Amino acid sequence: MPNSTPIQRVELDDLSFHEGATVLLRRALSRLAMGEWCEVHGDSPELADHLVAWCRKQSLRCQAQQGVPQTFRIEAPGPAPLILTSRTEIAETAQPDWGIAPRGARIERGGPEFGFTLRQKRDVWARELNAIYSQAATNQWAARDISWHQLPKLPADVEAAVAQVMTFLTENEFAALYVPARFIPRIHPHYREVVEVLAMQVVDEARHGEAFTRRAEAGGAGLGTTAISGQLSLKTLLEEPDFTTATFLLCVMGEGTFLTLLKFLADHAPDPVTAALARLAHRDEARHVAFGVEHMRYVFEREPEMRISMASAVERRSQMLASISGLSPYVHDALVVYAGGGLSIAQVRKGARHVADLQREMDRSRRERLQSLGFEPELAANMSAYHTKNFM
Ligand SMILES: [Fe+2]
Ligand SMILES: [Fe+2]
Repeated sequence: MPNSTPIQRVELDDLSFHEGATVLLRRALSRLAMGEWCEVHGDSPELADHLVAWCRKQSLRCQAQQGVPQTFRIEAPGPAPLILTSRTEIAETAQPDWGIAPRGARIERGGPEFGFTLRQKRDVWARELNAIYSQAATNQWAARDISWHQLPKLPADVEAAVAQVMTFLTENEFAALYVPARFIPRIHPHYREVVEVLAMQVVDEARHGEAFTRRAEAGGAGLGTTAISGQLSLKTLLEEPDFTTATFLLCVMGEGTFLTLLKFLADHAPDPVTAALARLAHRDEARHVAFGVEHMRYVFEREPEMRISMASAVERRSQMLASISGLSPYVHDALVVYAGGGLSIAQVRKGARHVADLQREMDRSRRERLQSLGFEPELAANMSAYHTKNFM
């Protein structure tokens, strides 16, 4: 490695790896070109072991700095290869490798392709879409109950974290919209109440996605990055062919987990607009979860053995996602900064603790919901552990 002055220095003080040190390391490395290196110093006695192990896992070169105790150099891998999409320019053809990422996001290369067949602007586009949408949404909460003018100027790091969280939410909203939408035309109108509930769910998700994107843009940061792991996870949801299984995976497991996430986002929001968005989306999601839970209750009362099928579906999905090691680092790190309020050592430590608590609370509430549906505690615990690490 070169002996020149490091371009980035990371001071970890006594912050350990389980307290969020990786948030600061990833941030420093993301600002370097390939082959540049950063210098890392910290006081934690396990620093050397943890840093070497982490770098090995990420295939990063790491060396102890000769003669300077507790100091290491890490060579940057260079920026992740990303596809950039424009928010405002509408392409004539939507590319398959954009996946389900919202327009305007940065997209990790190499993600899965989805089966969208209407990919030409000519096939679907219309003039005045914004006016038509706003007119339809005038009496809905995103327009009515959010005081957008109250959005303050946040510190840049916090605003970027909010925008990254909004990007993740928007991507998930699209999946939550497409899943019920796929089934609506297959349900006989004799069961009109189900069609009506699902149609409202589709409307809710459209509004959530639009409002979350608007929040990312309102603060000036724009949409962040969508990860392959998140897209893979959502693809398995979109492709589930059975209505009951899809409802279970989406509305009970996924949206159930999102209830905990939205409550967390409301509780820790750095501004009143973001807090209101999370609170109002939570209210809608509670309805979507209620439909999922009540459908499952109806099914299980008649066919108790369907519980086993649902447990296998959760496990099958986790096997399809075996290549994903955990929550996307973009989302994890953004949640840490969001909940901690910034990037100082104390803020990262606080944020990482809140995010670990969030993941425990998600697990607890999934288990509780499953047990309320008659799953034995041990099976409920297994199913919760198998649930995708990307929440939805
Ligand atoms: Fe939603
Ligand atoms: Fe939903």
